[in-house]
Amino acid sequence: MFFLGTGWVKYLIGFKYMIKIINVVGARPNFMKIAPIQREMARHSDIHPVLVHTGQHYDEKMSKLFFDDLELPKPDIYLNVGSASHAVQTAKVMVEFEKVVLDEKPDLVIVVGDVNSTMACSIVASKLGVKIAHVEAGLRSFDRTMPEEINRLVTDALSDLLFVTEQSGLDNLKNEGIADGKVHFVGHVMIDSLIHFTEKAKKSGIKSALGVNARDYALVTLHRPSNVDNKENFVKLLNAFAVIEKDIKIIFPIHPRSRKMISEFGLDQQIKGMKNLMLMEPLGYLDFMNLQQDARFVLTDSGGIQEETTYLGIPCLTMRENTERPVTVEMGTNRLVGSDTDLIIQEAKQILAGNNKQGQIPPLWDGKAAERIVEVIEDVY
Ligand code: UD1
Repeated sequence: MFFLGTGWVKYLIGFKYMIKIINVVGARPNFMKIAPIQREMARHSDIHPVLVHTGQHYDEKMSKLFFDDLELPKPDIYLNVGSASHAVQTAKVMVEFEKVVLDEKPDLVIVVGDVNSTMACSIVASKLGVKIAHVEAGLRSFDRTMPEEINRLVTDALSDLLFVTEQSGLDNLKNEGIADGKVHFVGHVMIDSLIHFTEKAKKSGIKSALGVNARDYALVTLHRPSNVDNKENFVKLLNAFAVIEKDIKIIFPIHPRSRKMISEFGLDQQIKGMKNLMLMEPLGYLDFMNLQQDARFVLTDSGGIQEETTYLGIPCLTMRENTERPVTVEMGTNRLVGSDTDLIIQEAKQILAGNNKQGQIPPLWDGKAAERIVEVIEDVY
């Protein structure tokens, strides 16, 4: 006895139904997650994807550069919401996205990750009775002071299909009582992008432009409100960088939020005093990937970078007290160092002394997550 999915039933009765799907992006970490899904959908004649960009991130270097690098088509619809407080930004996305859903009448809305746009579009779709798929579901830091944790909880509670990247996601959704049938362990679309663009990223000229060689530098990213909106924590991190840069060059492409806070807190002089620290504008996907591939180690508070370094086998020190991506610590090259100046210095020195944490690639991080996602969707519709 076996069961045929609805896709087969349609095939058997010779009926071809176009599935209209809105793919939502809003902020920088969304673009590399939606790119493989868009690419996979383009290979399926029964799927009509509509790409909606909320405009949560709008600077050329935070958005357009990624569309170019990731070979994403121009968004079909741009909502132009921009920056604001959480309530205002979320509300603006909701007002604009409601019009889109009413006009387009999609069969499904796909949201990725955990940014404000992810949650806002989920609420709208849910209230209009449109099915939602959440890609990167089930991750939990168990820290509700993180805006992303609230976004993850709300989005997962409203989603009809939950696509999971790691075992902890399955465990968390089970504990929250989400029905098994909605949950699919598919791997990680962000790793699909990394694999797809590895060779292209290797050809980037960024290292020679910066005058650095492979393994001769540490790469830093920093933008969490808990680190950069709090002067005491920001200074603790800069104090660690000031010691590390005596031993190795530090490349620091800076997020606009952190750049703004450096000026507000009057930290410019402290940064200028570090002669081995290279502060620069945010980088595009390919240049940043090139620097990650060849870094001696990475210091970050990003979510996705913990995962990319695990895949690449590059040591990663995460400047946070917790992670919603525990597989990167359990199996990967990631260590949590919080904002503890001494611990950051100590762990960096360990890496420089050659004591690297060896890691493994987590299950299903194989470049085929988008294929699995589209297969599930075709089966359901
Ligand atoms: C957002 C996400 C975060 C993600 C990060 C990646 C939420 C709650 N947070 O944080 O999860 O890790 O993106 O970058 O959704 N700004 C610009 N230009 C831009 C975008 C922002 O200058 O194109 C500045 C504005 O001053 C803005 C600030 O950055 O107020 C913060 O932007 P926002 O989108 O609110 O949050 P992020 O810190 O970027």
